Amino acid sequence: MRVDIVSIFPEYFAPLDLSLIGRAREQGLLRLAVHDLRSWTHDVHRTVDDTPYGGGPGMVMRPEPWGAALDALAPDELAPDGLTLPRLLVPSPAGVPFSQAMAHELAAESHLLFACGRYEGIDQRVLDHAATRLRVTEVSLGDYVLFGGEVAVLVILEAVTRLLPGVLGNAGSLDDESHAHGLLEAPMYTKPASWRGHEVPEVLRSGDHGRIARWRRDEALTRTATRRADLITALPPESLDKRDVAT
Ligand code: ADE
Repeated sequence: MRVDIVSIFPEYFAPLDLSLIGRAREQGLLRLAVHDLRSWTHDVHRTVDDTPYGGGPGMVMRPEPWGAALDALAPDELAPDGLTLPRLLVPSPAGVPFSQAMAHELAAESHLLFACGRYEGIDQRVLDHAATRLRVTEVSLGDYVLFGGEVAVLVILEAVTRLLPGVLGNAGSLDDESHAHGLLEAPMYTKPASWRGHEVPEVLRSGDHGRIARWRRDEALTRTATRRADLITALPPESLDKRDVAT
């Protein structure tokens, strides 16, 4: 997968050299480039923002540097059919909620282009113009406001990269984790069996795989019902068995 990120703070993305994302890059599974939006400015102050039309506090990102950046990173000439143009993702608290389902959807793309807004956001015309030739998604991490899109991109990219084939050693771990089947994951334990008076549940040490699977499912259901009733409501009825309903 190819990923381009445009930001006025390229330094934010230093952690992408580390850990599993760093390794995915070394292995060529992820081709990532970070671009400084200011390299598409032409004035001495390298201006990227201005006051909002209509008044109000804060600053809005001007359209010209963004237009030039998107033209350079998603040139029409390279994809006259439009098919191989990148998907443009714009983190924003006004976007559609990011989810594990969206992470899977993005992991299937061949090229993602992230546009990190700061201040009060990017002039809307940048997105409207981009939408005439690219698939554009404004995406929100949650109902809170960050300083800008950079941290959101780190989160989204981590969720997406771990789904790319070859990135996780043990692909089985993708199957049981929280949100894999619309449920939160059951609690996990490792050695020692007894620690500070707290014991690992007996069933997990029983070696009885049927009982263990049932226990994990029950714990996942109880946790989800307690912490995220919204997820229980959203479960397709056919994904529940008789024992689940009893739980
Ligand atoms: N930028 C600012 N706040 C954000 C949020 N909640 N999600 C994504 N991008 C953001």
